[in-house]
Amino acid sequence: MIGVLDSGIGGVSVLREIIKLIPKGHFIYYSDSVNNPYGDKSKDEVYVIVKNIVAYLLDKGCIAIVLACNTASAICVKRLRSEYPDTLFIAIEPAYKMVHDYNPEGNTLVMATKGTLESEKFLALYHKYDNNKTTLLSCSGLADLIEKGNMEDVNLYLENNLKKYKGVDNVVLGCTHYPLIKENIRRVLGVVKFFDGSVGVSKELLRQLELRNINYDNNELKIDFIDSSKDDSKEKRFRELLK
Ligand code: DGL
Repeated sequence: MIGVLDSGIGGVSVLREIIKLIPKGHFIYYSDSVNNPYGDKSKDEVYVIVKNIVAYLLDKGCIAIVLACNTASAICVKRLRSEYPDTLFIAIEPAYKMVHDYNPEGNTLVMATKGTLESEKFLALYHKYDNNKTTLLSCSGLADLIEKGNMEDVNLYLENNLKKYKGVDNVVLGCTHYPLIKENIRRVLGVVKFFDGSVGVSKELLRQLELRNINYDNNELKIDFIDSSKDDSKEKRFRELLK
C-alpha cells in the first residue's frame, strides 16, 4: 500500500498522475481537512500534524509515503527522513526548476502558501534557479477556499489577488490544491504556461520503488480514502476529481 497525504483533497492532483504510472497500485489517501490550511501554521505545528499522519499510514502497512502537499514537504520531509530512515518518502515541491528548464526567459509568478515560500527548502530552490523575473505570491487562504469548494469565493479571491499579474508568461502552481482551479486562474491571467510538480513527483515515486525492488503491483487499482473531518462529502468530491 502506498500512502498519499495532503491537508485536504488537493493531493488528488498528484494521485491522478501517480495512477497513470502505477495503474494497478493500492493507495491510501489521507485528507487532513480538519487541519487545513497548513500554510499559515507554524513549522512545529505542521510537523506534529504530519508526523501523526505518517505514523498512522505506517501502522496501516504503507511501503512508501507521498507528501502530496508542498507545505508539508517543505517543512517536514528532511526531519521525517531522519526520524524514519527506513521509510521511503517522496516529496513534492514547486516546479520552479521546470521554469528554468523550459521557459527561463519568461516572467514568472510562483503561487504557493506562506509556509512553502518561507521554507528553507523552497528558498534554496528559488535562489538556485532565480531568473530575476519572478514574483513570489503567498496565497494565504486560497487552499482553504478550494477545499470548501465554493467557486464564487475562489473566483473573487483570484480576481482580487491575481489581476495585477496579467501578462506573466509562467505560473508555478506551488500548492497541490491549485491545479484544481487552473481554468479559473486562466480566466484572470489569460494565456499562461502552468508548471506543477505532480508529474515529477510521480516519476520519482516509480523510480524509487523500482530502484529499491519494492513490489507495488496490486493486480488492480484500489484507493482507500480517509478524511480527518469525517465529512462524507469529501470522499464524493475526491472520487469525482480523480476521474
Ligand atoms: N495542498 C497544500 C500544499 O500543497 C495545501 C496548503 C494548505 O493546507 O495551506 O501546500
